[in-house]
Amino acid sequence: MNETGKVRAGEAAPKGIPFYLPQGNECALFEHAWRNRLPLLIKGPTGCGKTRFVAHMAARLGRPLITVACHDDLTAADLVGRHLIGDGVTYWADGPLTRAVREGGICYLDEVVEARKDTTVVLHPLTDDRRILPIERTGEVLEAPPEFMLVVSYNPGYQNLLKGLKPSTRQRFVAIRLGFPPPELERRIVAHEGGVDEALAGRLVQLGQALRNLTEHDLEEGASTRLLVYAARLVASGVHLREACQVALVESLTDDEDTVSALAEVVDAVLGA
Ligand SMILES: Nc1ncnc2c1ncn2[C@@H]1O[C@H](COP(=O)(O)OP(=O)(O)O)[C@@H](O)[C@H]1O
Ligand SMILES: [Mg+2]
Repeated sequence: MNETGKVRAGEAAPKGIPFYLPQGNECALFEHAWRNRLPLLIKGPTGCGKTRFVAHMAARLGRPLITVACHDDLTAADLVGRHLIGDGVTYWADGPLTRAVREGGICYLDEVVEARKDTTVVLHPLTDDRRILPIERTGEVLEAPPEFMLVVSYNPGYQNLLKGLKPSTRQRFVAIRLGFPPPELERRIVAHEGGVDEALAGRLVQLGQALRNLTEHDLEEGASTRLLVYAARLVASGVHLREACQVALVESLTDDEDTVSALAEVVDAVLGA
């Protein structure tokens, strides 16, 4: 941080801040969005660094991070809160969204398209000028403090047409697209996160690239940075490279046996049979 509390892109993260190597200008954009009280949507494939990016920025900005993994059973009450009964008395328990608003935290809704449409509607008054959270069941209307920020992420890749965000929801967000990091960056990430040297990390990244090229035809999703990190960790812990790639990259990407063989061939070709 410099004197004005701003974070510079590419600056080494101080202790206690989760490691994140930016792909572009996303750190500065996140900070601008936060300062201007704009909600943020982050899109990108599984395992490309979305969650890590948010954790990194929350720590950099010194805000508590409240993460919700969205799923199709998630109700508005799961986000906002509900009355509970304990020792014969009824009491109100804040949900994660309400807690984040009260604390001036960053509320991160992961895979937001999984949530039901009626659930995402509770976000609307928080994501326009009003920045309020009406809690129907208690009659309370919370005003979000300036430090509060709503961040949502989703993976545009494996979406069926029925899903996706309603325009009335998505047009409330500033949107940043992340992809898999370019090879040079990904090599540093895999080395750091996987605990391997850069030479080995480079080979894994090269393999990841080759698998991604192939997967455009056979698979819904390519080998993620996360899976490359897993492979690296296994190798660092003593698993043979080929076996690590088999379990972290080949079998985890597909169940189809023909595709498994095709991926295994790519592994052999890149690592040298
Ligand atoms: N830019 C990055 N800087 C540091 N680590 C990264 C980066 N991108 C990916 N990673 C690594 O990949 C893993 C998966 O990333 P994650 O943020 O969980 O992906 P997503 O939320 O997009 O599915 C992280 O735990 C981290 O080890
Ligand atoms: Mg995630």
